[in-house]
Amino acid sequence: MITLQEIKQNESIKALVRASNRYLETLGYTDHGPRHLSYVSRTASGILKSLGYSEREVELAAIAGWVHDVGNSINRHDHGPNGAILLYPILQDAGMAIPDVVEIITAVGNHEEESGSVSSAVSAALAIGDKSDAHKSRVRNGKPDPTDVHDRVNFSIQENEVIIDRKNRIIRQSLQMNETSSVLEYLSIYLPRILMCEQACEFLGQRFELFINDRPVNNRAGV
Ligand SMILES: [Fe+2]
Ligand SMILES: [Fe+2]
Repeated sequence: MITLQEIKQNESIKALVRASNRYLETLGYTDHGPRHLSYVSRTASGILKSLGYSEREVELAAIAGWVHDVGNSINRHDHGPNGAILLYPILQDAGMAIPDVVEIITAVGNHEEESGSVSSAVSAALAIGDKSDAHKSRVRNGKPDPTDVHDRVNFSIQENEVIIDRKNRIIRQSLQMNETSSVLEYLSIYLPRILMCEQACEFLGQRFELFINDRPVNNRAGV
């Protein structure tokens, strides 16, 4: 089976990853380069590994995490489906088995909360990995633009942990924020992503819990 390390060395993937991150930097977006891709890859594969999924699914989640944003090399809009279309021939040429290519493109094509639907363990893990990435290190060059809400929110997040509590069937995200931003600002941009994390966790038979500064954010009576 093709591994994440092989995919990282693929020249087409390297060029698309670079172009996507450069394009989003020009638009003023937070980091979408190796830092973001490594976080998503590590988190997505870690979730499936902790939940006892097969080695194949764990590796596919790692690969999906690394390639999920390549569609941004075309346009931010519809970058999930565009990325899936770009990836099919590249992954096939790289020697990936067709069923694995299909797993990847379904996950990548559905990772955006605006149009995506979670339909497999790999796509669920990818969604949680991607939507949970918020941290001060995501602000480019460590210099936040105080007029940009994404910079303010990310720069305020000092710690971000995703913990898999297999015994209680809970995936818990715990953030520590400082006063650079507020919980309200965090929710103003992350709410659709939190809801996608909830759906993805439900698909995996888990409950998603979000804590900010040690206080529960999405607890519900009776759950
Ligand atoms: Fe994305
Ligand atoms: Fe992403």
